[in-house]
Amino acid sequence: MALPFAVLISGRGSNLLALERATRDGRIDGRIVAVLCDRVDAAGIPAARALGLEASVLEAAQGMDRAAYGAALSAALEAGGARLVVLAGFMRILDAGFVRHWAGRLLNIHPSLLPAYRGLHTHRRVLEAGERIHGCTVHFVVEELDAGPIVIQGRLAVRPGEDEGSLSARVQRLEHIIYPRAVGWMAEGRLTWRDGTAYMDGAPLRPAIVEEEPCV
Ligand code: GAR
Repeated sequence: MALPFAVLISGRGSNLLALERATRDGRIDGRIVAVLCDRVDAAGIPAARALGLEASVLEAAQGMDRAAYGAALSAALEAGGARLVVLAGFMRILDAGFVRHWAGRLLNIHPSLLPAYRGLHTHRRVLEAGERIHGCTVHFVVEELDAGPIVIQGRLAVRPGEDEGSLSARVQRLEHIIYPRAVGWMAEGRLTWRDGTAYMDGAPLRPAIVEEEPCV
């Protein structure tokens, strides 16, 4: 049976669109049952609705703490029937209760080669540091921010003189390849989680790597 999953966004939603495309062309044996967003003005909301997806906004009410927001989010996800939660540019830190509840069923994509460059403004920091290699990471979410077992990484060589815009676009193209792949593995039951450990095809998980295709 196709895996029902939810996608959480805060912005443009380009990863959401890549995931939706992959459910349509059979790369993911799953269906998106809910799109939830914490910002009313996110461009990803109309983009999701244009594809016929159920997209709702869940803003944090005045004075609502992180745990209360997480509980409301979980309730909405359970009500939608999600069995996997996919964070796709969701910029709100989730509380420990939420993460524990969805442990092993919660994936995130981050725009760096974790464990390097956790946090924000990764492309800028990578350029400032003069790094030669950069990329993106899909990982299981654990309580520690931008940590958790790595499923797959997309890797590219930073070009001489490259600016933040170009680097970010190239990283996003890789994100749109690796995220559908990881979710596809979850849907096939190849990527699993037992007692706090991630497995691929029954063996302890080792990160997969996708290299950027050279330009021709
Ligand atoms: C993506 O590049 C993703 O890696 C990043 O937000 C972007 C969302 O783009 N996530 C984080 O920075 C999480 N810490 P999108 O809305 O076009 O999918």
